Amino acid sequence: MKLGRMNHIGVATPDLDASIAFYRDVMGATDITEPFVLEEQKVRVCFVNTPNHSGGDAGGGTQVELLEPTTADSPVSGFLAKNPAGGQHHLCFEVEDIAAAREWFEGAGKRILGPTRIGAHGTPIFFVHPKDMNGILTEIMEVPQGAH
Ligand code: CO
Repeated sequence: MKLGRMNHIGVATPDLDASIAFYRDVMGATDITEPFVLEEQKVRVCFVNTPNHSGGDAGGGTQVELLEPTTADSPVSGFLAKNPAGGQHHLCFEVEDIAAAREWFEGAGKRILGPTRIGAHGTPIFFVHPKDMNGILTEIMEVPQGAH
């Protein structure tokens, strides 16, 4: 497998609107997407887009994915139970071929959490267990169509 670009850093938050205000007012973010609910993963999500270089236009840079649980049994609820203020939840890397990447990690004995499914970017994703990934919950995502 060939590692692709880091697509986003997932950040869990108990209050999405407060986190949006933080990135806008404290961090100076100027490109934050409208929140939407990802029913399947029981989260309300939005993206803070960072520019591809200092002073550059938005787009092309990486994103912070803000995640607020919508139910008590959301995967993010468990994280917030241990980290009530929220915090870094996962890293997401792009790959060209999601099926090949899944096979690669399975072949390496890494535990994959659930089926490959459509993620917040509308492309196939899966998660690899943090205990098999040096402590980091890792999302693998097929490159969005037209991204390259
Ligand atoms: Co993610």
